[in-house]
Amino acid sequence: MTLMAYNHAPIPSFMYGTAWKEEATAHLVQLAVASGFRAIDTANQLIHYQEVLVGEALQTLRKEGIERDTLFLQTKFTSADGQDHRTPYDASADLTTQVRQSFESSLTHLCTEYLDSYVLHGPYQRRGLGEADWEVWAAMEGLYQSGKTKMIGISNVTAAQLTELCEQANVKPMVVQNRCFAALGWDKEVREICQGHGIIYQGFSLLTANRRVLADPEIRTMARRLGASTAQVIFRFAMQIGMLPLTGTTSQQHMKEDLQAEQLALSTEEIQRIETIAL
Ligand SMILES: NC(=O)c1ccc[n+]([C@@H]2O[C@H](COP(=O)([O-])OP(=O)(O)OC[C@H]3O[C@@H](n4cnc5c(N)ncnc54)[C@H](OP(=O)(O)O)[C@@H]3O)[C@@H](O)[C@H]2O)c1
Repeated sequence: MTLMAYNHAPIPSFMYGTAWKEEATAHLVQLAVASGFRAIDTANQLIHYQEVLVGEALQTLRKEGIERDTLFLQTKFTSADGQDHRTPYDASADLTTQVRQSFESSLTHLCTEYLDSYVLHGPYQRRGLGEADWEVWAAMEGLYQSGKTKMIGISNVTAAQLTELCEQANVKPMVVQNRCFAALGWDKEVREICQGHGIIYQGFSLLTANRRVLADPEIRTMARRLGASTAQVIFRFAMQIGMLPLTGTTSQQHMKEDLQAEQLALSTEEIQRIETIAL
């Protein structure tokens, strides 16, 4: 399935995340694509991601006949605070230059001439948006307007920050990527803002941030009814409420199961129950 952001840019409805894969990154990206994933998430941030190895996998896939334009590539600009000594740009340069340098190095790492989605890894401050955020966002808007990325987005954002961005930006984000806690109604406030603006909400840590929910007897009953796993129930729930889930599985069996979740159908009552299960 494909989702559509407000600017009519399409995005596959499930995304494979490459954080913490280290030297296994290339192999796992190939396995994910072989299993059916068409959207890959990474970041130009060596602490958690190996963007170069994602690029290596893409080159191998190309040799196997899987062309660049059949895949959706998303990467991120990470501020100097989120980097170690291997910052992929000149951290003493102004922020506009940092974004441009990071973007160009991502293109080189990923062996591509364009991105499908470019995401600001997180605002520079916990509350509101400051001067640094606006400078970086303007640089990202420039990349979008130049056609070098088909979407721009923001991650780790609060409802208040997202509202401010949507109200004041020249180009609103097309995607938001947040950690999704069931105890916060699965990030309900942020999801609602996204829905109102036609922004695609991408949820991560759906399983790892919600272990109690996965073990809940009611979720187990739903899984039994569907002949599925509890992980599949959560991923299907995410899709049915309009979310684009990410998975970072390292198992091909789980890659297939995660994608198969799309075939399941939870009832309206089950959806309502899961939405409030941890409130
Ligand atoms: N923007 C940000 O700041 C940020 C932060 C964190 C993550 N992310 C993105 O989100 C991606 C996903 O991260 P995540 O935190 O959701 O996932 P994750 O930490 O990579 O972990 C997924 C976990 O779920 C398990 N799993 C997956 N499918 C399963 C299934 N069908 N049955 C049982 N277990 C299953 C995996 O185990 P197995 O390996 O054994 O399957 C793994 O332990 C990352 O790779 C990254 O791209 C972004």
